[in-house]
Amino acid sequence: MFLKNAWYVAAMPDELADKPLGRTICGEKMVFYRGAGGKVAAVEDFCPHRGAPLSLGYVEDGKLVCGYHGLAMGCEGKALEMPGQRVNGFPAIKSYAVEERYGFIWVWPGDKAKADPATIHHLEWAVNPEWAYGGGLYHINCDYRLMIDNLMDLTHETYVHAGSIGQKEIDEAPVSTRLEGDHVITSRFMENIKAPPFWQMALRMNDLAPDVAVDRWQICHFHPPSHVLIEVGVAHAGHGGYQAPEAVKASSIVVDFITPETETSHWYFWGMARHFKPGDAELTAKIREGQGKIFNEDREMLEQQQQNLLRWPERALLKLNIDAGGVQSRRIIERLLAAQAA
Ligand code: FES
Ligand SMILES: [Fe+2]
Repeated sequence: MFLKNAWYVAAMPDELADKPLGRTICGEKMVFYRGAGGKVAAVEDFCPHRGAPLSLGYVEDGKLVCGYHGLAMGCEGKALEMPGQRVNGFPAIKSYAVEERYGFIWVWPGDKAKADPATIHHLEWAVNPEWAYGGGLYHINCDYRLMIDNLMDLTHETYVHAGSIGQKEIDEAPVSTRLEGDHVITSRFMENIKAPPFWQMALRMNDLAPDVAVDRWQICHFHPPSHVLIEVGVAHAGHGGYQAPEAVKASSIVVDFITPETETSHWYFWGMARHFKPGDAELTAKIREGQGKIFNEDREMLEQQQQNLLRWPERALLKLNIDAGGVQSRRIIERLLAAQAA
């Protein structure tokens, strides 16, 4: 079961630059394409003629044309024309609410009448020129909630990411979790420590000494249905850490849009928005490469964890205090799912 009446990141614009994109989201098989005037549209990936996937077709004059026998569809899922045939009476296929914003294509897999683009979270980093963004997309074979658990508890960095962002002080620093309505916040602050390799690189690229003591922070924010944004950074020690002036720190937001595909797979839109050197394209590429490697380490752990959970479904799992962020986030999802079912 998925929360269907919610906005999810469905794709990055370049994925549908020259052809329709077929993608399953929350169990719904969809096809995304640019219709009239370049506006993004999404309909069921099912041709009403003989059931061929419309994603194997092409776009012509803003219409999605089936690649099997040439039926042309409109953005609302209505059959428009077909060479030599009368198709106006064909039943319409399902269409979805879509919105292009902040450099992503968003979709509302549920009731189209309830979709209000104004409820897409405001993302300041995506519109403010003081910020730069770089990111990518991974298809991951595990329940999207395992990824939420992973990101709402960064203790794993010490072990999974030992060579880049992990360090033993993460384990040693206490973590605190609080709720503000449906927003879960898990934070951890480390003082007077050595920056791990990834953050030394970031300090150096921001013209700051990389090898002096730093204060480090991680503040994870979960918002339904499945978005996790993590404020991260380091500042030269003794200047206020998270509150330190820009001149002595390197700070970013780790961006994680986690879009369910099936019960055991999801689309993971990952990236980093940074608040230093926004014009430095080389730095954007370097961070993106580093982050891509780090998230690949998570992928291996999570996919094999999923296999274990499928093999031993009856085994109870333990909850420690470090798991509070994930537990609270799952509770919110459960409550919203129950409301949706009612
Ligand atoms: S299956 Fe699409 S036109 Fe025939
Ligand atoms: Fe990780």
